[in-house]
Amino acid sequence: MSYLTLAIGSGRTANKAMKLLSKAGIEFPDFHNNSRKLVIFDETKRLKLIFVKAVDLPTYVEKGAADVGIIGKDTIMEERPDVYELLDLDVSKCKVVVAGFADKEYETAKSLTVASKYPEITKAFFEEKGIRIETIKLNGSIELAPLIGMSDIIVDIVETGTTLKQNGLIILDEIADVSARLIVNKASYATKTSQIQQFIKEIKAVLE
Ligand code: PRP
Repeated sequence: MSYLTLAIGSGRTANKAMKLLSKAGIEFPDFHNNSRKLVIFDETKRLKLIFVKAVDLPTYVEKGAADVGIIGKDTIMEERPDVYELLDLDVSKCKVVVAGFADKEYETAKSLTVASKYPEITKAFFEEKGIRIETIKLNGSIELAPLIGMSDIIVDIVETGTTLKQNGLIILDEIADVSARLIVNKASYATKTSQIQQFIKEIKAVLE
């Protein structure tokens, strides 16, 4: 039987995903927290793990370089890959929010500058509201943008709220609740159906 290739996004979801796999009894002897290995197999060689940059993960799965992937719903919403989203793993729970200074009455603004890692989510949200925006795409430290006057507000994910709080920002609006999801390449699902269904069954069994 051939193996399934599972892509995991490096970063906040990776550790949660590894814990989930371990709970399901799928062990990776070569996995260590500080490892720089990008490809590892489980001990039974039925699952090949590849570690990819989270933002690229939907592309790996859409193109079939990975059969399945574990990735945050925020990245799925942003990248809109042509894949099946089959399971909510209910870990890495965050919110995508609009944040800024408390006195920022953004709902009445005619136009705004918004810094975000998520330009597409941002565009769709403000289009719906009828507010004209200019988006500044950043790749990290988004909270800095309003502090130094580069943007009026931000669209970003919030998990504990610590980063916003420590930088004097508050949530102005909530866009979506997000969590880690299992996505599947469409062709793989047709050709490796039973393997994928079995994998999903094992993961489902350990979800809280
Ligand atoms: C994310 C996000 C916030 C922070 C929120 O950044 O962009 O900055 O986490 O988490 P909190 O609510 O628990 O404080 P990440 O840690 O992924 O790093 P980045 O700034 O490099 O994107």
